[in-house]
Amino acid sequence: MVANNNLIKELVEKYGTDRTSLMPILQGVVLQNNYISDSDMTEIAKELDLSAAQVFGTATFYSFLDTIPRGRFVIRICKTITCDMHGKKLIIQALENMLKIKVGETTQDKRFTLLETNCLGWCHQGPSMLINNEVYSDLTVDKVHDIIADYMHK
Ligand code: FES
Repeated sequence: MVANNNLIKELVEKYGTDRTSLMPILQGVVLQNNYISDSDMTEIAKELDLSAAQVFGTATFYSFLDTIPRGRFVIRICKTITCDMHGKKLIIQALENMLKIKVGETTQDKRFTLLETNCLGWCHQGPSMLINNEVYSDLTVDKVHDIIADYMHK
């Protein structure tokens, strides 16, 4: 893991100190560390000359920007209506059984976190889920077993 101050400095160098850099910088931190700590947010605020509240507000508004530690692979299953109608409940059950955790929890080995999220824009192929930045759609219980089995060995 890159020391955070260096990481933030690198990201600021890459994206600049304009307000519009806030999202890419936040995303850059999440990509590297899986979440954004309070001290990251303070540091980013300082670099971009924003208040910590502005940075915190942005980070917590976007549920994709985790502000608490997560597993290495963050699974986000769409809970919005189309996916719901296409059997998202069975998919969640399969994930919970396989990972032995409930939605909102992280496995003991910190490999997986299971979350629900709003529409991912893949409704036409629901049920859908994201694992980190990867989209998986047209999910069935069998498909989920194969996908997760794969991630268990990554
Ligand atoms: S409703 Fe699930 S991706 Fe849109």
